[in-house]
Amino acid sequence: MDLQIKGKKAIMAGGSAGMGRATAERLAEAGVELYITARREERLKNAAQEISEKYGANVTPVVADSSTEEGRQALFKACPDPDILAITIKPPAPNGDFLKVTPDMWRNSIETTLIGPIEIMRHYIPGMKERKWGRIVNIATFSAKNPMIWRLMSGPARSALLNYTASVSREIAQHGVTLNNVLPGMFQTEGASEIMKDYAEAFGLEPDPEVVRPHFLANNHIPAGFIGDADDLAPMAAFLCSPLARFIVGQNIVIDGGQHASIF
Ligand SMILES: NC(=O)c1ccc[n+]([C@@H]2O[C@H](COP(=O)([O-])OP(=O)(O)OC[C@H]3O[C@@H](n4cnc5c(N)ncnc54)[C@H](OP(=O)(O)O)[C@@H]3O)[C@@H](O)[C@H]2O)c1
Repeated sequence: MDLQIKGKKAIMAGGSAGMGRATAERLAEAGVELYITARREERLKNAAQEISEKYGANVTPVVADSSTEEGRQALFKACPDPDILAITIKPPAPNGDFLKVTPDMWRNSIETTLIGPIEIMRHYIPGMKERKWGRIVNIATFSAKNPMIWRLMSGPARSALLNYTASVSREIAQHGVTLNNVLPGMFQTEGASEIMKDYAEAFGLEPDPEVVRPHFLANNHIPAGFIGDADDLAPMAAFLCSPLARFIVGQNIVIDGGQHASIF
C-alpha cells in the first residue's frame, strides 16, 4: 500500500529501538524525511545510519530526552515544522508492592509518560493547524485501558493521555490534523528486555529469563499465543500517520494479540 507520505517531514520521538524504531523504518520506507530521537547517543546514531542505508532515506538523529524541557527544545530546534509526529518512550519499570509507590515515583511516571508527549504535541499543533495538515500518533500502552497492579507507573498516566487525546483530537480535526494512540500489549523489544530485572524483583523471582518468561506467560494470557514483535505494531502506527487515515480521529487502537478482552 502506498502511504502517500513521500517527501513529508516526520518525527519519531523514541526511534532508536523497539516499536519506535520499527515505526521509523515504516515511515522511512514510505519516503519521509525523518528525525528520530532518543537519550542514548550511540544506539541512536547507529539506528539513523542503518535506517538511512536500508531505505535510502534522509534520517537525522537528535539526542533528546522527551521528559525534560531541555530535551524537547533540542527536538524543536532540529525539526521546527514536522507534518508527522509519532512519540514513544521506554516502558516504565514495573512497580512492586503498590503500597510502596511513592510520590516521587508518580511524578517521574507523569513527567515521562504524560507531560513529555503533551508538551511535544502542544508545541507542534499550532504549526500543523496553520499548514492545514498533520498527523500525531502516540505509541502508549494497553494498560491505559487494561489496568494491571504491576503497571501503575505506566497505565494510569497513559489513561490521562487517552483522556487528553479524546478532547484535543476533536478540537484539531477541523484543521486537517489527526491525533490517535496505538496501545501495545506485550511485545518483545529492547525496552522489555531491559525491565526484565525489575519484573523479576517486583514478583520476587530470580532475574533469569528461564524463570521470568514462564511466570510472565502464565500471568499474561495472550490468545494469539505469542508475544508481539515490534513489526506487529509499526504498520498500524505508520498507517495512522498517512493521509489514508484522515477520518480516524481520537482513537485508541489496541494491538495485543487479544489479551485485553473488551467490546470497545
Ligand atoms: N514492550 C512491551 O511489552 C510494551 C508493553 C506495553 C506497552 N509498551 C509501551 O510501548 C512503548 C514502547 O516500548 P518499547 O518496548 O518499544 O521500548 P524500547 O524498546 O525501550 O524503545 C523505546 C525507544 O524510545 C527511546 N526513549 C525512551 N525514553 C525516552 C525519552 N525519555 N526521550 C526520548 N526517547 C526515549 C529509547 O531510546 P533511549 O532509551 O536511548 O532513550 C528507544 O529508542 C512504551 O511507551 C511502553 O510503555 C511496551
